Amino acid sequence: MNPTLRLAAAISLASLLPLSAQAAEAKGSVEVVHWWTSGGEKAAVDVLKAQVEKDGFTWKDGAVAGGGGATAMTVLKSRAVAGNPPGVAQIKGPDIQDWAATGLLDGDVLKDVAKEEKWDALLDKKVADTVKYDGDYVAVPVNIHRTNWLWINPEVFKKAGIDKAPATLDEFYAAADKLKAAGFIPLAHGGQPWQDSTVFESVVLSVMGAEGYKKAMVDLDNAALTGPDMVKALTELKKVATYTDPDGKGQDWNLEAAKVINGKAGMQIMGDWAKSEWTLAKKTAGKDYQCVPFPGTENAFLYNIDSLVVFKQNNAGTSAGQQDIARKVLGQDFQKVFSSNKGSIPVRNDMLADMGKYGFDACAQASARDFLADAKNGGLQPSMAHNMATTLAVQGAFFDVVTNYINDPKADPADAAKKLAAAIKAAQ
Ligand code: BGC
Repeated sequence: MNPTLRLAAAISLASLLPLSAQAAEAKGSVEVVHWWTSGGEKAAVDVLKAQVEKDGFTWKDGAVAGGGGATAMTVLKSRAVAGNPPGVAQIKGPDIQDWAATGLLDGDVLKDVAKEEKWDALLDKKVADTVKYDGDYVAVPVNIHRTNWLWINPEVFKKAGIDKAPATLDEFYAAADKLKAAGFIPLAHGGQPWQDSTVFESVVLSVMGAEGYKKAMVDLDNAALTGPDMVKALTELKKVATYTDPDGKGQDWNLEAAKVINGKAGMQIMGDWAKSEWTLAKKTAGKDYQCVPFPGTENAFLYNIDSLVVFKQNNAGTSAGQQDIARKVLGQDFQKVFSSNKGSIPVRNDMLADMGKYGFDACAQASARDFLADAKNGGLQPSMAHNMATTLAVQGAFFDVVTNYINDPKADPADAAKKLAAAIKAAQ
């Protein structure tokens, strides 16, 4: 075909497309920045994309790779400084308040949706307060993750002669020793700072209990940060680290999860987004894999709530798209399918109270049960490693000290505890 004919063919082909494409453009377009880029995470977020596109909006995918979201946050900050923030972005916890204080978030666009859909009644007050600024919703909460999980391949356990999931730190070490002796990687772990701190916070919770965790990681109490319990937690952390994957330095969490799924490793300490990889691999909870709270943390729940904030955009189509996303996100359909793919549990109270009815699996049902119970007994605490407990500056201080401590063969736990307290003070 000569160039003129080719162009004519392209134009006539294009004229066949516009109906849906033009309708989408006419309705509005929203860019969504997020860090859901592993196979399982992508499968989960694609559900939202498809629903929003079905409603005639254009979804501009602003995915930024990097577990835990640090890279996405850097990108977002430079976009905001350049005066070009996206319409919607994945931001969490206290950071939402900081972003809202800059005046860049939109406190109006979600007002009608929140009222019509009765968000105040649907959501726990703790959850709603996290995503409100000055009484207005500036974000829609998406799901609830728990970070203090241990993921187990039971087939590997069997081959290593281990007959049950460890319930204490000593049982954990005993199982890890058996796995090592049988030639398996005891603990799949990617040595990125956020992953080191995800393990650290589970160990702190195990050693110090929910109350001690709160004092140290949420209240940032100096005595709790430097006291004997923290020194013990750091000592245990060092021991846990001796069992981690020797090839895990700088490795992504999902590639480490794959080692447990493929039977190369026995365990992984990771939040329940790890389940998204098991689900993608078509594995069944309770049969092909086991999820148990990290040893010693069965009565506590470190929560991590994903949410999508709305930035001011000054464009009616984009506002309509932002509202459509928010409406979809809190709908029962989406809550069910997203959390099933993602490994989390819904944010809606009505669904949390009746998980079986919505077809959630054993891990999700246990998670919802614990979430509701721990909310009453003080065991429900915000995750430090996943931006729910502190500012990003304080979180950065934790990350630096913890990762340096894990990687320094000569590090002393009492000294690390002092460094931790000092670094946090400087970051406040
Ligand atoms: C987010 C999860 C995400 C995980 C790994 C966490 O901070 O809350 O949604 O799956 O990081 O990237």
